[in-house]
Amino acid sequence: KSIVLTGITTTGTPHLGNYAGAIRPAIQASKNANVRPFYFLADYHALIKCQEPARVKQSSLEIAASWLALGLDTANAVFYRQSDVPEILELTWMLTCVTAKGLMNRAHAYKAAVAENEETEGHDPDTGITMGLFSYPILMAADILLFNAQQVPVGKDQIQHIEMARDIASRFNHIYGEHFVLPEAVLADNAATLLGLDGRKMSKSYNNTIPIFEEEKKLRKLINKIKTNSLEPGVPKETENCTLFGIYQAFAHPHEIEEIRNRYAEGIAWGEMKQILFEKINAEIAPARDRYEALLASPGHIEQELKDGAEKARAITVPFIKTLREAVGISPIF
Ligand code: TYM
Repeated sequence: KSIVLTGITTTGTPHLGNYAGAIRPAIQASKNANVRPFYFLADYHALIKCQEPARVKQSSLEIAASWLALGLDTANAVFYRQSDVPEILELTWMLTCVTAKGLMNRAHAYKAAVAENEETEGHDPDTGITMGLFSYPILMAADILLFNAQQVPVGKDQIQHIEMARDIASRFNHIYGEHFVLPEAVLADNAATLLGLDGRKMSKSYNNTIPIFEEEKKLRKLINKIKTNSLEPGVPKETENCTLFGIYQAFAHPHEIEEIRNRYAEGIAWGEMKQILFEKINAEIAPARDRYEALLASPGHIEQELKDGAEKARAITVPFIKTLREAVGISPIF
């Protein structure tokens, strides 16, 4: 069976970008009998960006409820919380010791933080940058390599991290022998990065997201808030870089997308396009919305699912970390 693995950072309410970029393709993949899925809540990753404990907790609950409401079958998929599998941290250190600092210097998230500092005159480029942010791709490599995942369904923004995980795995294998499979990123079919309300990438960090399970009326309101240019109805419009069109593409069939492309050329009114987009998203999400609310109201059930998942995960990671300890010359734990 091929091993498919992906995670979501628990820093906020899961949004349509997470859904189209990772959750939906991952749930689809989990229905394939030849796949062994490992899906997890990246709560250690959350600490890199968020130092509000209540928010990390609430986000874990919401992300877990989202996966379950959207139909993840935990009889087949191993569904767990990163922090419940401490072997991940142990591997992180082993990998840290074979990772070149120069590789981390090239990571997008770190470079973006430095660039932002450099814009502010007089700022040290490393202001506010923690070692957690700097070495984030190593933690992510440990997530992936500890399960020997072959395929990692992610949005485009994560591709660099998967490539780094491959680099790190090769380096470790070269030094200590062939222990790790080299993972590959898998992009969803219509894998554009979804843009948010303000036209930047939809992201928890930008506060511009459309939550997956926003209540119907609020969903409509949020969609109406999406920024457009000021072209009047009847004036032809570009589909490229259009937030509304990009999100529509992630939810519609190819023939529907073609129809809307023609409507853009004819000059569709933004108000009408927003209505069409709302209906499209709502039709796909509405059936899971009640399940989501019910799950949020029963955190005990979610805890039990995660506990079962952690047990299944550790049945793999405990023996594997033992092998890895031996490989690097560290004695087993008594
Ligand atoms: P995170 O939490 O930022 O995002 C979770 C997933 O959602 C995708 N995504 C998007 N896709 C399309 N459009 C968007 N606007 C958009 N925003 C987010 C992301 O590409 C990702 O697939 N470091 C990871 C979490 C992680 C992980 C892992 C993933 C930790 N360990 C191991 C895979 C394997 C992150 O912060 O994703």
